[in-house]
Amino acid sequence: MGGRHPQATYGLLRDTSPVMRVDGVGVLVSSWALVDEALHHPDAFSSALHTGRLGNHRPLIPLEVDPPDHRKFRRILDPLFSPQRMKLLEASVAQLVNDLIDDFGDDDEIDFTQQFSVPFPSQVFLTMLGLPMDELPTVLALKDGIIRPDAVAGKPLGHPDVAARQTATAQAIYDYFTNILDERQGERRDDLLSYFLEAEVEGDRLTREDILDICFLFLVAGLDTVSASLDCFFAYLAEHPERRLEIVKDPSVVPAVVEELLRWESPVAAVGRVAARDTELGGCLIRAGENVMPMLGAANTDDTHLADATTVRWDRRVNRHLAFGGGVHRCLGSHLARLELRVALKLWHERIPDYQIRPGVELMFSNGVRAAESFPMVLGSPRR
Ligand code: HEM
Repeated sequence: MGGRHPQATYGLLRDTSPVMRVDGVGVLVSSWALVDEALHHPDAFSSALHTGRLGNHRPLIPLEVDPPDHRKFRRILDPLFSPQRMKLLEASVAQLVNDLIDDFGDDDEIDFTQQFSVPFPSQVFLTMLGLPMDELPTVLALKDGIIRPDAVAGKPLGHPDVAARQTATAQAIYDYFTNILDERQGERRDDLLSYFLEAEVEGDRLTREDILDICFLFLVAGLDTVSASLDCFFAYLAEHPERRLEIVKDPSVVPAVVEELLRWESPVAAVGRVAARDTELGGCLIRAGENVMPMLGAANTDDTHLADATTVRWDRRVNRHLAFGGGVHRCLGSHLARLELRVALKLWHERIPDYQIRPGVELMFSNGVRAAESFPMVLGSPRR
């Protein structure tokens, strides 16, 4: 698990070695200019060669597909996740937030991860797929078996039981969605799965395997990322009561808060690529086959790109950050993520203006996707 405040380390990396080879890890890239360059050259820095690390036996679509094939999948998926379509979900997303807060009852303390940040995005996912809420434990178990198989298997990473757990979970995911698709075949509903069954890409339909590979990716890309963002945001706001008060006093600041905390916290700290050929980045030779990790968090706090980059400000007129990645693989779910985060921040601060991390607790965050291990939160009053 990593620390709560990685920004100083990012600065050190950028200043000393913006391209740094770390044995057993790969090449870390940390300046804005070089991260941006790597993300915009998928011919040199491939996502397809990065495939199969999550127990999947086919590439995840579209994350592990390089251009030109990548484009046909984005053409069909992008309209499904447009801001206009996401807006239609606002009322149901708000209902989910309110229901979770109602469930806190009169408790003075909650575990923010277990009672809010973890269930919420998975409930949104179930809503979008037209699945019942009682599927929540199943979805959480499938997701965790892939993302944290070590915790689920109770063994350290590298132990054969951990890999076996991940592979078994991957098969369970394929089976889970196969069964649902079998049930849906021939039945038109107004949900994502029905749309996939009918969709056409350049005259071709998505195959059954394509749909499974898309659903698999949604489980690993669309849930923990939002949970991690909520953990990072609420930790920041608990640590800075004066900034929290600004939201309580003027909720119209919420969209700016979401963008700035996405930039500052960069909940997805880095992404993975593999050099497709010998290539050069920032004057350094990178060999074909080497792992390359563009560090989004380091790029987002680089003041050669953004003035005052190490200050958290709600008043930036332009806030071009890489928290959702960049180039062809830029996050498909960014508008959904923004909706979830905005609705959650707005309603939470209306109802629970005062909260803090339980005194004496130091929150621990995972590396990569920066989720809190646990988050004991003391709730103050008044509450609505
Ligand atoms: C705040 C929450 C989120 C963050 C910070 C985030 C971040 C990212 C990043 C950095 C990438 C680029 C990966 C790369 O370049 O290798 C990405 C891709 C992706 N994200 Fe998100 N994501 C979030 C939420 C979501 C949600 C809710 C969905 C649900 C659909 C989603 C679906 C995807 C997909 C499908 C891709 C792959 C796009 C492609 O390869 O063309 N993400 N995300």
